[in-house]
Amino acid sequence: MSLIRLDKFISERTELTRSKIKEIAARGGISVNGQPVKKADAKINPESDEVKIPGQTIGSQKHRYILLNKPEGYVSSTDDSDGESVLSLVPENLRKKGLFPAGRLDKDSLGALLITDDGELAHRLLSPKSHVPKIYIVKLARPFKSNYVNLFAEGIALKDGTRCLPAKVRQAENTENCEKLAFIEICEGKYHQVKRMFAAVENHVEKLMRISVGGLILPEKLGLGECMELLHKDVENLFRPLDFDDFCADFFGIFSAFPLNKQL
Ligand code: URA
Repeated sequence: MSLIRLDKFISERTELTRSKIKEIAARGGISVNGQPVKKADAKINPESDEVKIPGQTIGSQKHRYILLNKPEGYVSSTDDSDGESVLSLVPENLRKKGLFPAGRLDKDSLGALLITDDGELAHRLLSPKSHVPKIYIVKLARPFKSNYVNLFAEGIALKDGTRCLPAKVRQAENTENCEKLAFIEICEGKYHQVKRMFAAVENHVEKLMRISVGGLILPEKLGLGECMELLHKDVENLFRPLDFDDFCADFFGIFSAFPLNKQL
């Protein structure tokens, strides 16, 4: 592994500028493997050296991957022009330059949203060619009808004539109000897609929560508005999809304490 400059290492992984890093280093605020390093241009091994700045140990991962349990009222964009951005929910110690939401959840939608600075991964994840499935749980205005299963599987036509790729849908079981709760899995991301798919069968989505992206499941312990940093193995899971039917069948067994009834 080739050595890199300490200020490059830190600036790629935090919001600090190189001049700020130089200043902190000169004050003795940066340590490498427990030893203060006053020169910001010192060379370090990015894979094995432990770099600390005040209040934070900086990991070796170049890119950052954050899973947010998005609450209602935040917009999936990097600026606040249409409302408060989801980026404002990222805690200070996880912030860094270049973070953006990889995918979109509507302002009134909840659930799993990946925030990263890895453009290549986001492209792979969002490209329709990758077919990464996303599972949502929705609360409908009217009871689920069994004919939805075939209609969605055939690729439903939205009211404006746009045809969707085949999707899987299934009514929730063994929980309160389950006649109006459904799971849906789609592999694309058209504007308001899930809401428009249910509108096409004369139903209406009252609440929508994304509970998985690829093989990554929103952890029960992650409260609304909370973020967690993902490890490399979790990021790999994005591309190992779940079995929809098994997932739905187990959902209310595994997630017995999932605060869905409060959220949906
Ligand atoms: N489909 C929608 O309609 N809204 C979302 O937020 C995500 C998928």
